[in-house]
Amino acid sequence: RGGPVVLGIETSCDETGVGIVRGQTLLANVIASSMDEHARYGGVVPEVAARAHLEAMNPTLQAALDEAGIGLDEIDAIAVTSGPGLSGALMVGVGAAKALSVATGKPLYAVNHLVGHVGADVLAADSLEYPTIALLVSGGHTSLLLVRDLVGDVELLGETIDDAAGEAFDKVARVLGLPYPGGPQIDRVAVGGDPKAIHFPRGLMHAKDAEKHRYDFSFSGLKTAVARWVERAGDAGDEIPVADVAASFREAVVDVLLTKAFRACADHGIPRLLLGGGVVANARVREVAAERAAAQGVTLRIPPLSLCTDNGAMIAALGAQLITAGHRPSGLGFGADSTLPV
Ligand code: KG4
Ligand code: ZN
Repeated sequence: RGGPVVLGIETSCDETGVGIVRGQTLLANVIASSMDEHARYGGVVPEVAARAHLEAMNPTLQAALDEAGIGLDEIDAIAVTSGPGLSGALMVGVGAAKALSVATGKPLYAVNHLVGHVGADVLAADSLEYPTIALLVSGGHTSLLLVRDLVGDVELLGETIDDAAGEAFDKVARVLGLPYPGGPQIDRVAVGGDPKAIHFPRGLMHAKDAEKHRYDFSFSGLKTAVARWVERAGDAGDEIPVADVAASFREAVVDVLLTKAFRACADHGIPRLLLGGGVVANARVREVAAERAAAQGVTLRIPPLSLCTDNGAMIAALGAQLITAGHRPSGLGFGADSTLPV
């Protein structure tokens, strides 16, 4: 398959990602993560992330070119995440992309991180049809999108009004004395736990919230409820039933995420749902999503995990589609925008 050769740079959070595609074909996807450096803080520290991007950028870029087996001169264009994300982190990627563009004379495309997550799907063998609903869940975002056209018509239906779902996993893991990142740990200890053992609150699911926040999420109340529950049990001298707490917490998150995603599918008459972001690694998310998709006649798409978590290939893939659709380059007059809308 042909198409433009695009190099994509992603630095919105703690992953330095450089990917290369030829049209819809993946040539390279290299990721350097600063996750280990954040572990002792229990979450991503923006300043640490920015510094790590700076150190990782050149080696990651070179590794991606090596993996693709091409030189910089064989690239047709450069794409970079300009937002949303952590300001200092984004600036490193944007700066690197601009420098590359000036040095090589190749056109530069600024792209939206969230739309990039959806764009990753074109790299799969049988890619998505539009319109589709997309649920993107990571440590930095929890967003529900209606994508009518990837390169021109993307609508934000809802998002978290406080913590991201991955952040809630990380914070609850900490309460349970589990290491960072918390998601995989919660998944691990929830095995054998009873998801119905404790009823934790489901944010923004009740009638009074139904209209205004129909597609929005809230996880900070849930996180606090788990912390209180564990604290009370500790005060009472009880042994904490870690497996039950983890399973019950996970069930609450999964229930809210998927109820709202499938509600969006039903409301808009769109029988397609794409999942993206690191939380999609969650075993229960996958299980319940598959069950509900079958029950509701929805086609479920989950790209391979290496394309679900933050990466440069998804940014390159979106860039290639912008070029194919005839979009003009962004030039150099844009900057990092931590709250860039879709
Ligand atoms: O997409 P991602 O790698 O990027 C950032 O947010 O930077 O997502 C990382 C997030 C973390 O909050 C992590 O705890 C969560 O995804 N995560 C999971 C699982 N694996 C990773 N959450 C729930 N269950 C998992 N198995
Ligand atoms: Zn992301």
